[in-house]
Amino acid sequence: MKPGQGSRTAIFVCQGRAVADGRMAVGRFSDAVARRLLGPDELRPVDAVRDGTTRRLEGRERWAAESVRACAEIMAPRTVMIDEAVADAVTGQGVQQVVLLGAGLDTRPWRLPALESAKVFSADHPATQAEARTRAAELTPVARRLVFAPVDLITEPLDAALGAAGHDRTAPTVWVWEGVVPYLRKADVVATATVVARQSAPGSVLVVNYQTPSLRAGIGRGLVNLVARLGRIDTATADEPWRSTWTPAAMAGLLAARGFTVEQDADLLSLARRLGSPTVHSRSLGNGRVAIARFTGPAPASR
Ligand SMILES: C[S@@+](CC[C@H](N)C(=O)[O-])C[C@H]1O[C@@H](n2cnc3c(N)ncnc32)[C@H](O)[C@@H]1O
Repeated sequence: MKPGQGSRTAIFVCQGRAVADGRMAVGRFSDAVARRLLGPDELRPVDAVRDGTTRRLEGRERWAAESVRACAEIMAPRTVMIDEAVADAVTGQGVQQVVLLGAGLDTRPWRLPALESAKVFSADHPATQAEARTRAAELTPVARRLVFAPVDLITEPLDAALGAAGHDRTAPTVWVWEGVVPYLRKADVVATATVVARQSAPGSVLVVNYQTPSLRAGIGRGLVNLVARLGRIDTATADEPWRSTWTPAAMAGLLAARGFTVEQDADLLSLARRLGSPTVHSRSLGNGRVAIARFTGPAPASR
């Protein structure tokens, strides 16, 4: 991210959810709040895709619209799996604290009915969070409580930020770590997972979205950024490069060493197929995964 500026990929994925709302995985996915967090310029490519008018666009505008269309394909299955894991933990297992790690413009506090009984902590980089709060100022959360915890995961202690926000480490927590791991270096992912485990009581659930290593995907991303630079097209991803990818075994190992047992780990392509959601970008979908892990390690008092 550029210093002092909020995350642009947070806006991009919000645009993806606004595109997908009512169009993809209908019946399992919906996000009518996403468009309410976007400004008029940000809605233009969203509406072009939804109205089927992208062919009338040229240059940068066409690029922006096709990018958010591709992003929507990823967002539909990813959101469904995470929403359902959160709902299961909160309403099915009675977990009453939810932490959104790198929340960006995650709309769950304002739209996910399962959160009615939960206290939600929205943790994010201060610059991104300030923007998110302004955008959501007019919205009323469905969550029982929504507390903001500004924190730079690389330079600031997450436990202190959550403690100051009122997080109770002796009660179970659902951790949602969506769309953030690729933007952190391996060491920062390890450090964050370590703190998450330390702040987890037994019964806590970690839902983590990550990218698997893929030479093709890496080259593809590099080429897209190069073409965009040559065409002077300002992309959301240019300032937020991917810094770490994980195989399912490496992710399971990282979590197991910290007391989390992976109970599910699915790729987004299989999920999209099951949902009948579009799979035009099958490689990107196949490289994205969501793992759901339960904390079975020692209680906080003994650590
Ligand atoms: C692609 S967005 C995902 C946002 C949200 N989780 C979602 O899926 O809609 C990436 C998020 O990671 C956050 N992030 C990146 N680096 C961070 C850091 N060092 N500390 C805290 N948050 C960070 C950004 O602020 C941004 O909100």
